[in-house]
Amino acid sequence: MKIQSIRGVKDILPGDIEKWQWVEEIARNVFSKYGFREIRLPIFENTKLFSKSIGETTDIVEKEMYTFEDRSGEQITLRPEGTASVVRAYIEHKMYNPPSVVKLYYMGPMFRYERPQAGRFRQFYQIGIEAMGTDNPTVDVEVMTLLIEFFRQLGLTELELQINSLGCADCRPKYRETLKDAIRGHLDELCQNCNQRYERNPLRVLDCKVERDRKIAQDLPKTKDHLCESCTTNFDQVQALLSSTSTPYSLNPLLVRGLDYYSRTTFEVVSTSLGSQNAICGGGRYDSLVEEFDGPPTPCFGFALGMERLISVIPFDDKIDLETRPDIFVVGLGEEAKSVTFKLIHDLRRGGFSVDQDYAGGSMKSQMRKANKSRSRFTLIVGENEIKSGKYLLKDMENSSQNEVSAQDLPQALREQLAKPVEP
Ligand code: HAM
Repeated sequence: MKIQSIRGVKDILPGDIEKWQWVEEIARNVFSKYGFREIRLPIFENTKLFSKSIGETTDIVEKEMYTFEDRSGEQITLRPEGTASVVRAYIEHKMYNPPSVVKLYYMGPMFRYERPQAGRFRQFYQIGIEAMGTDNPTVDVEVMTLLIEFFRQLGLTELELQINSLGCADCRPKYRETLKDAIRGHLDELCQNCNQRYERNPLRVLDCKVERDRKIAQDLPKTKDHLCESCTTNFDQVQALLSSTSTPYSLNPLLVRGLDYYSRTTFEVVSTSLGSQNAICGGGRYDSLVEEFDGPPTPCFGFALGMERLISVIPFDDKIDLETRPDIFVVGLGEEAKSVTFKLIHDLRRGGFSVDQDYAGGSMKSQMRKANKSRSRFTLIVGENEIKSGKYLLKDMENSSQNEVSAQDLPQALREQLAKPVEP
């Protein structure tokens, strides 16, 4: 019986995984410099956590969640994103005590039942950041500049930071009505989806992907022109701070995001080299979500980036060695050698060397072929004569020179030779 992986889900194989590990290592490094610490979250949660936070009328909740009933009848959902879980954990573990800004990051798989296409999967991986406990615009900008620094270290410069402000609980309801009034006259021309959005989630009409709707959206009222005084000041401060760090950005008044919890600053980073799924990263401020789950007032700011999309735009060139090379390949010849090499390999690994061998044994020629294929730095030949004399043949695979080394001296000799730069 042949079973294949599920549509929209993929394996990340050796050869690719090194790219992922490299990106994750840089992320951890950069994030820790900005004071963020890792949180590991469950992959499934109570369904209500996501429907309430992301919003009942969003595409994610209406069409994309993997929801099932577990054996005790509880409604469970495979997490479509990480922010809701961070908020739940923050409240559950009273992370607001003592009061301070809590800075967290997470990495892991998310699940959305979307139509798979280039850059869009049903299981995809995110790296996310959440700064919880302040509405200071400094944090908005610090998190966005952290992201830009992360991208810089990955060698990415062709990315565009787009920002917008969605207003707050004071100004958004009024704007929503103004927007609905303006949309009403276009309902005949707008797509079926937007006709539904008009009643339930009119802001989403602004970022519809249908060409005709996009043209109409251009002339609809924008949030930025309907912000209250405090949101206007806040957005001005965000822009001034971004400019003070010379971070290039553009204003995108059509940027509304597909999750309902946002207020004030929202942003996306898009890649000009990707097709329709060009958003590498999205995020923004969500000031009332913690309170909506009965936590204390806790304004927050965060983002999540899609690993598959990010990796696809990184110019890897020869940035990292994608193949792991063993330090030494041990060739054992003859029956007696088997037990000697077994113990030798065990000791070498314990001594800190990466070691490989040909488990099938076989002739010198076939084992040397495997050694070459492994691209090991050295090969150690252990045959009958070597066992008798107690001296093994150590071959430098870069320049084919060889010399005899006793088992006792081997670790030291290897250490010295590995430390030497390879001659061109
Ligand atoms: P989001 O915009 O839904 O935001 O997702 C963030 C990123 O995840 C997207 O920009 C994209 O790169 C990636 N992504 C989303 N769906 C898929 C998919 N089906 N296949 C591949 N990649 C995908 C959030 O998830 C928010 N929780 C971000 C946030 C954190 N806001 C505040 N804090």
